[in-house]
Amino acid sequence: MRKVYLDNGSTSFPKAPGVGEAMCDFITNVGCNVGRGGYETAYDLGEKVYETRSRLCRLFHFDSEKNTVFTPSVTYSLNFIIGGLLREGDHVIISSMEHNAVARPCEAAKARGAEVSVAPCDRQGRLDLEAFSRLFQDNTALVVMSHGSNICGTLQDAEAIGRICAEKAVPFVLDAAQTAGVVPVDFARFQLSALCVTGHKGLLGPQGIGAMLVTDELAEKLSPVISGGTGSASHLLTMPDFMPDKFEAGTLNLPGIIGLNCALQFIEETGIDKIYAHEQKLTQFFIDQAEALPGVRVVGLPGAEGRVGTVSLDFSSLDNAEAAYLLDAEYGIMTRCGLHCAPLAHQTLGTYPQGTVRFAFGYATTEEEVQYAAESIKQIVNRQ
Ligand SMILES: Cc1ncc(COP(=O)(O)O)c(C=O)c1O
Repeated sequence: MRKVYLDNGSTSFPKAPGVGEAMCDFITNVGCNVGRGGYETAYDLGEKVYETRSRLCRLFHFDSEKNTVFTPSVTYSLNFIIGGLLREGDHVIISSMEHNAVARPCEAAKARGAEVSVAPCDRQGRLDLEAFSRLFQDNTALVVMSHGSNICGTLQDAEAIGRICAEKAVPFVLDAAQTAGVVPVDFARFQLSALCVTGHKGLLGPQGIGAMLVTDELAEKLSPVISGGTGSASHLLTMPDFMPDKFEAGTLNLPGIIGLNCALQFIEETGIDKIYAHEQKLTQFFIDQAEALPGVRVVGLPGAEGRVGTVSLDFSSLDNAEAAYLLDAEYGIMTRCGLHCAPLAHQTLGTYPQGTVRFAFGYATTEEEVQYAAESIKQIVNRQ
C-alpha cells in the first residue's frame, strides 16, 4: 500500500537531503569527541560544532555563538530555563495554548512555590494581548510561550508579545518547536531573552538534538539544571560560569550536531520564505477541501494565513481515533490523533477531551499527497 507521511508536527520526514549520510560519515570516519582531545581531528570537529552554532545564529538573527547552547531537545531547553530560573515566590505567565513541554515544567515550579498564570487565547488559538498585559505582577519573573500551535498551527504575534514583555522588563522565552525552519523567527525583532528549538521538526535534522539561544542577562540568572564534565575548568567542582559550558555538561550529541549542520545548510540554501510559501499553499488547499465535507470541522483559523502547515480536524460522524485508524489502515496516511501532549490547547480550542486528527505537512509533502489525503477523508466520511 502507498504510504503518505503527514505527521511532520511530531517529527519531520524525510529529513533534509544528506543528513543521514553526514551522520553516518561522522560515526564511521571521524567518531572522536570535541573539547576533550588535543589532536587535529578533534580541533576540526570543534570548528564544525562552532559552524553549527553560527548557522543557528544566522537563521534566528542572534548575535552570540557562545550563547547558543546545544541541548537534547526543545523540552530540555525549556526545562533548563523554567527549572533553572523560577524560585519560590516567582511568577510565570504562559498561554492557554501551551504544549506540556512548557506546562509541565511550570506545574513542577508551582509545586516548588512559584505562581503560574495562564493567559487566555481565543477559539482560534490567538493570545488575547490585553488580558495577557493585565497578568503582570511585581514578582513576574518570566513569560514563556509557544510560537506556533502543534494542534492547529496558529501563530502568535511574537513581536507584540515581545514588546509588552520589554515594557514590563520581564524576560520573554519562545518555544519555537513548530516554527523554527518554517517561518521567520527573529530573536532581535521579537525582543527575546531566550529561544528554544528542536532539531528534528521544521529544522529537518535528526532526533536528540536541540538548542537554547539565550542572552547574557538571562543566562546569568539561570542555575544549571545538569552538572558534569565540560572539558573545561576541570579543577572546579562546580559548573563553569562561562557560556556555553555552563549548560553543556557531558558529551554533546555529535552525530546529531553534524546532522543538524547539514539540515541547516539545506534551509539556508532553500530559503525560509520558499519553505513557508510551500506549506501555506498546501495548507490552504487542504482546508478548502476539508471545509466542504459534511461532519468535519476544521479547528482553529479559517485559512492558511497566520498558521504553520498543521491542520486539525474534528469528525462528528465518526470517532476521531477511528478516522485516524481508517486513514492509516486503508489508505496508508499517517496522522496523529488524540491530545498531542497539549491538553490546555485542546481545552482552548473546544476539542477536549475528544482531541483531533492532526494533518501536519512538511517541506517534502506534495500537493498530490494532500489531494490524496482529502479524497481519502471524503471516502471515509461518505461511508457513514
Ligand atoms: C509546541 C511544542 N513544544 C515542545 C515540543 C516538544 O518537542 P521535543 O519532543 O522535540 O522536545 C513540541 C513537540 O511536539 C511542540 O510541538
